[in-house]
This record gives sequence, C-alpha cells and structure tokens, in this order.
Amino acid sequence: MSSQTVIITGASRGLGAAAARILAELGARVVLNARSEGDLNTVAGSIRAAGGQAIAVAGDISQPAVSRALVETALSQFGGLDAIVNNAGVIEPIAPVAEADADAWQRNLTINVIAPVLLTQAAIPALRERQGRVINVSSGAAIRPKGGWAAYGASKAALNLFNATLALEEPRLTAIALRPGVIDTEMQAVIRREGQGRMSEAEYERFARYHAQGQLNPPELPGRALAVLALYAPPDWNGAFMAWDDERVAALVAQHAGM
Ligand SMILES: NC(=O)c1ccc[n+]([C@@H]2O[C@H](COP(=O)([O-])OP(=O)(O)OC[C@H]3O[C@@H](n4cnc5c(N)ncnc54)[C@H](OP(=O)(O)O)[C@@H]3O)[C@@H](O)[C@H]2O)c1
Repeated sequence: MSSQTVIITGASRGLGAAAARILAELGARVVLNARSEGDLNTVAGSIRAAGGQAIAVAGDISQPAVSRALVETALSQFGGLDAIVNNAGVIEPIAPVAEADADAWQRNLTINVIAPVLLTQAAIPALRERQGRVINVSSGAAIRPKGGWAAYGASKAALNLFNATLALEEPRLTAIALRPGVIDTEMQAVIRREGQGRMSEAEYERFARYHAQGQLNPPELPGRALAVLALYAPPDWNGAFMAWDDERVAALVAQHAGM
C-alpha cells in the first residue's frame, strides 16, 4: 500500500473519478478537483466511506487560485505532495476550422493546456522535495489529425510538448503523457451528440460503432494504469508519451495493482 498524496483534476466523473477511487484503494491520499461540486463531493464521500482519504476542492482549474488551493490543501492536510494528474479536459469545439467558434477554441486551450501548466507550476516546489510525478492525460488525437477536432488535437499536441519540455527542465521529477484509449465517458457521448455533420462521416461512424458494439473501455481499465503511473512511474520514463496498454505500463500495473 502507498502512503503518497496525489492531486487529480477532472475527478467528478469518467476517467478522473475512476482513477481517484483506484488511487485511494492503493492507499494514496487524494485531493480531487472539478467544477461540479455535488458530483465531486459524491466521489470524495464514496472514497471516504470505503476507508480512503479524500478531500474535494471544487473550482475551475483554469483559474490560478484553484491550482494554488489544491497544492495548499495537499500540504496542509496531508503533509506533502507526491504526484499531480492533469486529467480535466474538454473536446469542444467539434467543428471545422472554418466554422469553429473562436471563444470555444480559447476555452479548450485554456482548460486542456494552460490549466495543466498552472497546476504544474504551483506543484513544482513540493514535487521537487519528493522527486514526484506529473501525469498529463493526453490522447491519440495529439498525433493523428481528425477533421472537426483541430482544437482538441492541437491542445493535446501542445500538452505532449509541454510534458517533454518539463522532463528536460525538471530531471528529478517524472513527467508522463498518457493516452488512455477510447473510454465510455461523457466525452464520448459529446462526440456522438455533436460530431455528426461536423466530423468526417467515416470518423463519426467509427466512434458511433465503438459505442454500439461495446468497444469503449470502462474508465477503470485506463484508470488503473493512470493511478499506478501517478504512484510508481519509474524516473527513466521521464518525458515519455505512452499508451495506457503499453506493455511496460501493463507490467507496472501487474507489479503494483495486480488483480
Ligand atoms: N473518453 C475518451 O475516449 C478519451 C480518449 C482520450 C483522452 N481522453 C482524455 O481523458 C481525460 C478525461 O476525460 P473523460 O473521458 O473522463 O471526460 P469527461 O467524462 O467529460 O470528464 C472530464 C472531467 O474534466 C472536468 N473538467 C472539465 N473542465 C474543467 C475545468 N475547467 N475545471 C475543472 N475540471 C474540469 C469535468 O468535471 P466538471 O464538468 O465537473 O468540471 C470532468 O470531471 C481528458 O483529458 C480527455 O481529453 C478521453
């Protein structure tokens, strides 16, 4: 069992909520963030009811004060910080470049790129003390363009380069960008609701098929990989962009959280 402290954003549902529960099952103390206070408190409450330690700090992670509050909570309530998981993310706007709303582009980049930078900046002094880890939740869209997804793909490509640059600048930390695969979460529901006519027909059909044929993974599968990386990613992986089912990740999961 781990006695580490981990901050995880986007923990009110989906991948973040699953990873938070698994982190707590593995013994970690977790500080949770998302905007929806009720849902976030429900996740934190269920962790505590199961015997874990969780504190919810609700707020928009793109506000610098929220990042500072998360780090201050970890330090004051749990005595230190071992890892942060930059998981909160949005896919919108789903629209061709020629039609996409500029404010929605700005919101996407603010949540998907600027917010991870802000939380990382706030956490670096504490992470340095424990040679900690930064896990950035990326996407295959960072390296494969999809029509209608320019904002999302550009944001995840930027996140990958942020991750790789952080690794160069902070060699005593371990920064990993993780692709979690296709997961049965609200983000996939948004793609099915808003993608038709805005993505290519073939791409839209592919995502609709993933859902119809039960090919979306439950969040607990990549969530376990995310939790194990946050607690145990080895230092020599610093800077890597990895898939959740990479065989090295699978071996680490088997070692630390074998079922
Ligand atoms: N689902 C997939 O197939 C898939 C594939 C590749 C990568 N990913 C990545 O996985 C991560 C998690 O996505 P998901 O699939 O679990 O999506 P999701 O179910 O939509 O969850 C997104 C989470 O981010 C939070 N969030 C969004 N904006 C926020 C903000 N400004 N401040 C704080 N929290 C915010 C949401 O909570 P609130 O709305 O309450 O704030 C929610 O908890 C994302 O980075 C996504 O890009 C997902």
